[in-house]
Amino acid sequence: MIGNFMYYNPTKLYFGSESLDYLKGELKNYGSKVILAYGGGSIKKNGIYDQVLAILREAGKTVVEDAGVMSNPTLEKLHEGVKIAREHQADLILAVGGGSVCDYAKAVAASVHFDGDYWEEFFLKQQNPPQGQPIIPVGCVLTMAGTGSEMNGGSVITDEANTFKIGHVFDHRLMPKFSILNPRFTMTVPVEQMKAGIFDIMSHLMEQYFSGTDDNTSDYLAEALMKNVVTDAYKAVKNPQDYEARSNIMWVATWALNTLVKCGKRQDWMVHMFGHSVGAHTHAAHGDTLAAISLAYYKHVMSYGLPKFCRFAVNVWGVSSTGKTEEEIAYEGLDALEKWMKEIGLPTKISEIGVTNEMIDGIAKGVVILDAGYHKLSQDEVLQVLNKSM
Ligand code: NZQ
Ligand code: ZN
Repeated sequence: MIGNFMYYNPTKLYFGSESLDYLKGELKNYGSKVILAYGGGSIKKNGIYDQVLAILREAGKTVVEDAGVMSNPTLEKLHEGVKIAREHQADLILAVGGGSVCDYAKAVAASVHFDGDYWEEFFLKQQNPPQGQPIIPVGCVLTMAGTGSEMNGGSVITDEANTFKIGHVFDHRLMPKFSILNPRFTMTVPVEQMKAGIFDIMSHLMEQYFSGTDDNTSDYLAEALMKNVVTDAYKAVKNPQDYEARSNIMWVATWALNTLVKCGKRQDWMVHMFGHSVGAHTHAAHGDTLAAISLAYYKHVMSYGLPKFCRFAVNVWGVSSTGKTEEEIAYEGLDALEKWMKEIGLPTKISEIGVTNEMIDGIAKGVVILDAGYHKLSQDEVLQVLNKSM
């Protein structure tokens, strides 16, 4: 562990098929006005809405609904949510849904008492709310596994007018105060969406893993979590009602992006930068956008971080290194990743998720270029990666 870092994660987790029982106790810690934020209606169909509402009523809360948080929440919806929360002087925002609802709740919570242009300040300028500014606490009842939003400060918003999707990782004040993780709640997630969530988890781990050259505990942890995702993805795709597999996937998702495995790491995050731009142009599921770009991107940068790509091949995929060059081993690792993706039915090309040749220039312009793990791309290389993944 060569880096210097501070580790602090204040989110309290309740996990398991009976975890919703703990919501009532948590509610005692907050005032009476609760904004109940949720998505397009899945929670009404699967009964989660009724269960949560009953608990809120029993706890004597005044509930204000903020419904219709779409997948990949928009800036327009954020404005609406801020208005609702300001009008009703919310004491708590309870997000019931997937990463989109949870991300949205954080953006609203940060913005309500901010005196200025919150979009520009928090997202375009990547600032945090000023110290001392009141922030509405966020709680989460998670219904879909993938983003890790339940235990991090991340929030991703899409500005539809400018076809631009951008995330900000807020400081610990915006991490959910508590999150309830009931794997049974994820059982009604459509299978294609479940697969996208599975790849999102894998991608979060790879984004943090592919950086650095030191012997780092974070990498050992990431390898274990990756092996867990790979194994349980097969089980969950074969039988989406497999509680053991779905519960492992939910727990891995949380640990894959709750700030643990980034400790001491430079990190990469370029797959997400590509994915966000592809998502802004196609509205494809977040995890699918990452799957579709990953192989082309990793093949492009592999030579700059060859030892880590070899380690990935051997430690995650069980590739034998005997009698092979480093490059051959590294390629076999990416081939194994591709084989797994195809076996569980994930897209491996952006053309499979609606990208057309006419969109490429616009998508390239929307890709934020980071320093990355091993190699900083030029604008021309961004185009090359996009074209290779068509
Ligand atoms: O809107 P509803 O009706 O609830 O339907 C949702 C949505 O259509 C549905 N769904 C969720 N739980 C369900 C269910 N359907 C049936 N049964 C259930 N139990 O699934 C669809 C997708 O939900 P969404 O919340 O959009 O998915 P996800 O959790 O993948 O979140 C995606 C958003 O998170 C951002 C992404 O960019 C994207 O905007 N991310 C957030 C991150 C973070 N906070 O750290 C990191 C990620 O890398 C990611 O960027
Ligand atoms: Zn992601």
